[in-house]
Amino acid sequence: MTVVGKNYKVADLELAEAGRLKIEWAESRMPVLQHLSEKYRKEKPLKGQRIAGCLHVTKETAVLVKTLIAAGAEVSWSGCNPLSTNDEVAAALAADGISIYAWHGMSVEEFYWCIDKTLEFKPTLTLDDGADLIATIHQKHPELIESVLGGTEETTTGVHRLRALAEEGGLKYPVIAVNDAETKWDFDNVYGTGQSSIDGILRATSILLAGKNFVVAGYGHCGKGCAMRASGLGANVIVTEVKPTTSLKAVLEGHRVMPMDEAAKIGDIFITATGCKDVIIGRHIEKMKDGAVLCNTGHYDCEININDLDKLKVSKRKIRTNNVEYTLKDGRRIYLLADGRLVNLASAEGHPSEVMDMSFANQFMSLIRCAREGKNLENKVYDIPEEQDQEVGTIKLRTMGMNIDTLTEEQEKYLNSWEFGT
Ligand SMILES: NC(=O)c1ccc[n+]([C@@H]2O[C@H](COP(=O)([O-])OP(=O)(O)OC[C@H]3O[C@@H](n4cnc5c(N)ncnc54)[C@H](O)[C@@H]3O)[C@@H](O)[C@H]2O)c1
Repeated sequence: MTVVGKNYKVADLELAEAGRLKIEWAESRMPVLQHLSEKYRKEKPLKGQRIAGCLHVTKETAVLVKTLIAAGAEVSWSGCNPLSTNDEVAAALAADGISIYAWHGMSVEEFYWCIDKTLEFKPTLTLDDGADLIATIHQKHPELIESVLGGTEETTTGVHRLRALAEEGGLKYPVIAVNDAETKWDFDNVYGTGQSSIDGILRATSILLAGKNFVVAGYGHCGKGCAMRASGLGANVIVTEVKPTTSLKAVLEGHRVMPMDEAAKIGDIFITATGCKDVIIGRHIEKMKDGAVLCNTGHYDCEININDLDKLKVSKRKIRTNNVEYTLKDGRRIYLLADGRLVNLASAEGHPSEVMDMSFANQFMSLIRCAREGKNLENKVYDIPEEQDQEVGTIKLRTMGMNIDTLTEEQEKYLNSWEFGT
């Protein structure tokens, strides 16, 4: 069920009040964004800009949307995953007159319809999480490219896709890789994904993690965060990887490392966090124990091959919210959470507000940079400048009531010289 208005399509406008409370809660935990909102409220550096956003519709995203509007922008929004929209938050935004096309549980066709709707106001800036918006503009609406000054990308998979497009010479406007900022990648992906993915698994299963074999596929930023938190809850973490040095890090951090074919036989819970496809396929599922739980926290639902799981089953039933039981021919039961989509967003609320505060501060500052400098930038993927990272880090520390040391002139000189030795 959805409700349609002049500039929105959401699940149910009656949910708006509950959504407003959620947004208010998030706002109180996002001091960096509040600081930036105050700083730019008068100057309005985004005045005249039309921002199309394609990003998980969470309470934190709503705070970002409000910050962009406070800085003068007009926005039109869609969710970047069929299962990640919080309907209460979407209703609150729609009820406040903000253009939004998003509801939980949409089909893939509806997903692209929503993106198309946000493009009707001919954006001057784009904000992506996964690059589906930019891909749609490039493939389906090239006529819009001329008026776009630049865009930003929120996640690892989106940055990979855009770098691949740029390498082919196909990227038609500049994009800033927000994901790759230190104050994003090393915090959001690690601590955010770590905590919220465990939250999603627990909401869908309510199982005890202590003593379980918890298999993490991919020991990058997200995988490391999941491993750290599962280990903290008493699970035995097993890592599967394809990169030798990353695997070594996992071993030295106390985890067992082995190929998925081996891990499949002993794992109780499996989480994929690779950004790659076919990480768990039929061959692995055939070896799994009765009761094994499968989930994914990578951007797309191709990490667990769900077609293979479907082919192996004799029956399936929804046993809990976001938890489907697949019974195999020999009676073993395998549980798939959140249809193999981002378990932290589909089955929980996504990353905590405190960590999204830094990611979205980077989004906000990068969009201002695109508005100011976009015309002079090349059609390539830009990193965010080191000064921006340090500024976000400084504000965050300050809002947490913490101070740090400053280098003396002499120390700075020492650090930048080669003469002094033994
Ligand atoms: N759930 C969320 O809210 C959330 C948040 C941030 C990022 N992401 C997504 O999570 C995924 C991972 O992001 P990241 O920042 O950790 O990336 P990363 O590059 O830091 O780590 C990915 C790791 O996976 C490994 N890998 C690749 N293919 C593999 C395979 N077939 N088997 C085992 N290991 C493999 C790589 O060697 C690498 O170490 C991406 O899709 C990203 O977009 C999700």
